[in-house]
Amino acid sequence: MVLDGANRHCSETQVRKIRLLDSEMKTIPLNPLIRKLGPITNASPAVLAPLAGWTDTAMRRISRKYGAGMVFSEMLSGEGARRKNEKTRKMAGFDAEERPYFVQYFATSPEQAADAAKLLRDVNPDGLDLNFGCPVKKIILNQGGAALLKDVSLLARIVEAAVKAVDIPVSVKMRSGWDHRSLNAVEVARAVEDAGAAWVTVHARTRSEFFQGRAHWEWIGEVKSAVNIPVIGNGDVRNAEDVKRLLDMTGCDAVMIGRGAMGYPFIFREVQHLLLHGEACEPPTPRERMDAAVQHLLWMVDYFPDPQRAVLEFRKHLLTYVKGLHGCAKFKFRAMQLLSPDEVITEMRTFLESLPDRPIERPRDVLESAPVWC
Ligand SMILES: Cc1cc2nc3c(=O)[nH]c(=O)nc-3n(C[C@H](O)[C@H](O)[C@H](O)COP(=O)(O)O)c2cc1C
Repeated sequence: MVLDGANRHCSETQVRKIRLLDSEMKTIPLNPLIRKLGPITNASPAVLAPLAGWTDTAMRRISRKYGAGMVFSEMLSGEGARRKNEKTRKMAGFDAEERPYFVQYFATSPEQAADAAKLLRDVNPDGLDLNFGCPVKKIILNQGGAALLKDVSLLARIVEAAVKAVDIPVSVKMRSGWDHRSLNAVEVARAVEDAGAAWVTVHARTRSEFFQGRAHWEWIGEVKSAVNIPVIGNGDVRNAEDVKRLLDMTGCDAVMIGRGAMGYPFIFREVQHLLLHGEACEPPTPRERMDAAVQHLLWMVDYFPDPQRAVLEFRKHLLTYVKGLHGCAKFKFRAMQLLSPDEVITEMRTFLESLPDRPIERPRDVLESAPVWC
């Protein structure tokens, strides 16, 4: 699905500004970082993670704009897709600029996985991604997400059913096991390879760890050594140096970034720069940060029929875009009272004028203070 109605809720002036912003934004040139993830070619080894409540079309577009190699939808319900739930279908929709784009969903049985795969195929994504890592209680009680790590045979049959149902790649995202006593990432990765998965993404934590402690990157290396399909490493990547370290340490084929990309699509540009030139690039100026945030809001306005809803949904993103900027507490207080996109944009511009026009480092505690999935 391609979204329609460019910026229909914004004034003429705002629309002119947007066009300007769009043309000002730096696009990432094609480069020698191109990687093959099975059947998918990526312009960069850094990809945007699926993040429920966050990676809607607007965040995916902004991440691609700044150089994400590929993007994933938020996790959708296989049962919702199977029942042709309108909300599920809308959430699976995307803009052509997002490609390569994978729809992620969870399924609890092979039949459900196959039926959902066929229906999600209809929105014409580049592939489907099956979730076996979700730690959320509601999903676990339903025997979905990470719960399936405890039943590898069923998990493999779910993957096989989805693979057989569609003519596009099906990948898998998983945690490294249920808990430290049952670390089975290698066994699961081998099973999904045999079941026909295009690649496997490993979030190097167990379900019991949720988001606590540090991700165990060595577990990604173990999976990489054990399978022939590509492996994407994931967990606690907070900057471009981390991407390089994870690639070097584990030999994984790509790196997935979640919380580190919230309000900071520039991380993808920084990865590209570091890998191409061997040195860090300058962080964005406040103006660049604000331009990206404005563009993000406008893409949300395009997506949500009600502009107020777009503003409400955008608030959490806005908080992350301005994190670490001088005077952001007062700005946040004012911005959180506003309900129209025009007012929010004006407030952002006013805030921007109070900031120095020079690159500003992002605070180091990006992950510690980021929201988690629970
Ligand atoms: C708010 C939030 C929502 C998430 N939603 C999903 C999801 O829908 N599907 C999924 O596979 N993982 C989801 N995750 C897990 C991330 O994709 C990723 O595996 C995890 O955050 C570790 O990567 P990071 O350290 O780069 O954030 C979510 C994580 C967070 C913080």
